[in-house]
Amino acid sequence: MSQEPQVPVVDLRDLASPRQEDQARASEALMLGLGHYGLVYIRNHGIDAKELDTFYDSFRDVCDRDMSEKQTWSKPDIWFQRGWTPPNTEKAVVAGGQPDFKECFFVAPEPLDPVCKLQYPEIYAENIWPEDAPEFQSTYLSIGHQLHEIGLALLRGCARALELEPYIFEAAVWQGPHVTRALRYLNLSTEQVDQDILWGEEHTDFNLLTLLPGGRFIDKNGEYCGRPDEKSGLYLRTRSTEEHPNGQMVPGRPPEGCIVAQVGQQLEILTGGVFTATPHVIKAPASVEYSRVSMAHFIHLHSHEILFPMPTCQTDESIQAYSPPVLAGTYGTKTMVDIGLAPSHAIEQLGYRQYDRLGSMRAEEDSSK
Ligand SMILES: [Fe+2]
Repeated sequence: MSQEPQVPVVDLRDLASPRQEDQARASEALMLGLGHYGLVYIRNHGIDAKELDTFYDSFRDVCDRDMSEKQTWSKPDIWFQRGWTPPNTEKAVVAGGQPDFKECFFVAPEPLDPVCKLQYPEIYAENIWPEDAPEFQSTYLSIGHQLHEIGLALLRGCARALELEPYIFEAAVWQGPHVTRALRYLNLSTEQVDQDILWGEEHTDFNLLTLLPGGRFIDKNGEYCGRPDEKSGLYLRTRSTEEHPNGQMVPGRPPEGCIVAQVGQQLEILTGGVFTATPHVIKAPASVEYSRVSMAHFIHLHSHEILFPMPTCQTDESIQAYSPPVLAGTYGTKTMVDIGLAPSHAIEQLGYRQYDRLGSMRAEEDSSK
């Protein structure tokens, strides 16, 4: 076994500091972390562990409600982008195989672009809440917003580290389709134990930047507990090198008190591959006795942004690798179809309506002859 990779820690106070040496330290950590590992750990992020526990408690209460009630918050017509997603619905794109053994709840914690609400009604939909879960709603929105602010601070740091305009990423995500997800990974059945069942198959996120405040395992008595075994939990795959052509699997276990930020496909494309989208997987424990709750906030580019390497990140190689350019909204719709949340006919929303229109006009003309 090779040496355990050393994922860098970024101190949020360094990012906000006026001192050159503090900023340089943060830039160095971001370049190594997001460039090689595809992730960084974040210290002094301000997320309160107690508030997070309160949120997880309330989320578990919501998950424990009757199926008939949960179905009322489940909306295939908006591609499950708000409210509850049943187990075995979503699947990872690259794996293309098993659906994940998890149920989820989606919320948009930030203001959304009113024009995009008309153009992309599914990914800019209004939030859906259980009627009588005020603590679930308030802690969800509070932590979602805090994670978003942490992400914006990191994106400003990324811009500085890449010697770009400091607000270039922040402007590109303003009023975008950001979403916070709460997830409950389900207990395995006896038949599934030791079958290498994954709670979430290996994939890269398709958004810009993902913030993970840390999940909790739950034992058979319903108590939060440590990792049930060495193998279970979040693992992330680092960039390939000569020594490790398939990358290295890094356990997503940040130092005490830190949270995780990882690169999505959009940030990889914009930086022409300088930053690398992190493949990650959630491994289930080898026991029927455990479940897990976790949370993730996904920062997305605004849907009108173009996915293509930024001018300073363009080389012959990166232009070829990330061509042709595509709208972030188009990219999102296609991905939703690929991961099984949107129906295949959603692709037809991507334009080219004039073909059909002319076709039906001509067919009508023919039939009236
Ligand atoms: Fe993911």
